[in-house]
Amino acid sequence: MTIAARYAEFAAREAYGVSPQYARLSSAVSGDETLLALLGTLPPAKTQPNLLFGVVRLLGGPVDDPDAFHDFTVTNWPAVEAEIRDRATQTNEAGRCAVLLPVLAALPQPLALLEVGASAGLCLYPDRYGYRYGDHLLGGGEPVLECTLTGAAPPSARPEVVWRAGLDLNPLDVTDPADVGWLDALIWPEHTHRRARLRAAVAVVSAEPPLLVRGDLVDDLPALVARAPAGATLVVFHTSVLYQVPEPRRTAFVELVRDLPGRWIANEDPGVLRHGTLPTPPGPALHNVLALDGRPLAWTRGHGQAMTWFG
Ligand SMILES: C[S@@+](CC[C@H](N)C(=O)[O-])C[C@H]1O[C@@H](n2cnc3c(N)ncnc32)[C@H](O)[C@@H]1O
Repeated sequence: MTIAARYAEFAAREAYGVSPQYARLSSAVSGDETLLALLGTLPPAKTQPNLLFGVVRLLGGPVDDPDAFHDFTVTNWPAVEAEIRDRATQTNEAGRCAVLLPVLAALPQPLALLEVGASAGLCLYPDRYGYRYGDHLLGGGEPVLECTLTGAAPPSARPEVVWRAGLDLNPLDVTDPADVGWLDALIWPEHTHRRARLRAAVAVVSAEPPLLVRGDLVDDLPALVARAPAGATLVVFHTSVLYQVPEPRRTAFVELVRDLPGRWIANEDPGVLRHGTLPTPPGPALHNVLALDGRPLAWTRGHGQAMTWFG
């Protein structure tokens, strides 16, 4: 896919109806020869819309006006480029716990959670957040994660978690304001609810930070699995990670995780983690597929705001 097509697709399938500012911006970048030429000097993995927009926001640039965005990015390209080369998108969305919860709650309890590509580890606390599935409330306190659930009954209880650990190439630290600042910059501009959710989830996680290990999801996973306690259901899970993992490492990861002890939950783009025949998705927006032990169960929206069960 060309860089222009990537930005056009992001506008049409990811940002459309979810972030009007990013939809407008991404569409403008897809036809901006100057910006496309600058992006063309970067490795393909660094040309992601979310990464460029997050870096410009981090540097204090405008994302509400495509012309102002163009001027800022061109004028400040050395700084923008340095940040892009140094960083990766590490959006950590606690809201994704709402789509994991129906599967986690149905497994034999208690659970030992191991998240691959954990970022700051916010998705390792599904037992601590509140949930609202339509009229159905679960748990208390903040944040309350809202999810439109279709095709299944909401879970009746939160899971019991006795161990939690994360593995990431670059773990972020919720107690470091610079890391939280990067997580904030990655949240789409109009999403004040997600910003509030980030603050609330950071408060929960800061009170008892998880074990986060720096490492690769193929090379370092078996050693972390070996640290999980006996007497709990080990759940290795990942959400919105594999698009960052090039082949053949992605296949190596799937082969590895399939043979590990415990259960495996994936919440990934079906173009990245393939599942054979799937039902028609609920709409044109980008959907992930939630799968347990390789068996697809539901379509899910990117930030955990909706899920459609079909399994
Ligand atoms: C988009 S973030 C998603 C974070 C979290 N799973 C969530 O859903 O909120 C993807 C994370 O995967 C990590 N990652 C990418 N490739 C990896 C690899 N080969 N091994 C371990 N972590 C990786 C990145 O550093 C990043 O923190």
